Amino acid sequence: MLLFDQIPALKNYLRDSRHEGKTIGFVPTMGALHAGHLSLIERAVKENDLVICSIFVNALQFNNAQDYEKYPRLFEKDINLLAKYPNLYLFLPEHRTMYSETPTLKMDFGQLEQVMEGAHRPGHFNGVGIVVSKLFHIVQPHRAYFGQKDLQQCRVIECMVRDLSFDLECIICPTVREDDGLAMSSRNLRLTPEQRKHAVLLPQALFLARDLIQKEQKDFSVVRQRITDFFENTPLKLEYFEIVHSENLQPVQTIAETSRIALCIAAYLGEIRLIDNILLPE
Ligand code: PAF
Repeated sequence: MLLFDQIPALKNYLRDSRHEGKTIGFVPTMGALHAGHLSLIERAVKENDLVICSIFVNALQFNNAQDYEKYPRLFEKDINLLAKYPNLYLFLPEHRTMYSETPTLKMDFGQLEQVMEGAHRPGHFNGVGIVVSKLFHIVQPHRAYFGQKDLQQCRVIECMVRDLSFDLECIICPTVREDDGLAMSSRNLRLTPEQRKHAVLLPQALFLARDLIQKEQKDFSVVRQRITDFFENTPLKLEYFEIVHSENLQPVQTIAETSRIALCIAAYLGEIRLIDNILLPE
């Protein structure tokens, strides 16, 4: 597998591929690859002539220094996992390669980032927007692949692609779950075996909310209260549970307000913060 750590070499390689008429798929990641990432890569490999996977733990999007320091970095293991894919190339830049200087530009996604992750992680989507737009400029992919698990990130990136006229298609792929329902996440690696057992409460809360809504609970304040109660006397500290419009992510009070909703949740297990969501109808 070809590995690039410098921007000009990668750009030259991709320019030549583009001239040969090849389509380029792009899967940006922060590494510690799991089955969720691999599902994006597999789809990208199927749909494009060549695929770039980037691994870059982007300091700019962490609002918590400890979370950045402790973010799992398993580059050797990741490289071995990627080696089996045909026509897949890895971009593994260092911090100074991506940020020779700290960017002065600030991205503001308006209402889209005033809820949920944006509200609880100030500056997070500015960091995501800056790094993803830099990566889009470097790779200039035809298609870029993201996981629905980070639903708000998907909506922010779709907004950025529209507003800045990036000439690419964003493809959002379904969340991949462990057998017990826990959404795959690199942060799951930081859970102790005891915490891992409790983490399943997160998807269980979403499934409970889904069942209530499907059983005709039209008043979402009742659903919200049930989910708040669900976490009482558990080791999980609920940060938010929101029922929102699936596209603009603004809170909704009843099912009549939109044809599709998203149930979104974030909770702490010790110092580890986990998020998840499901869309209804599925
Ligand atoms: O979802 C992630 O892993 C990151 O937020 C991304 C999109 C690679 C940007 O750093």
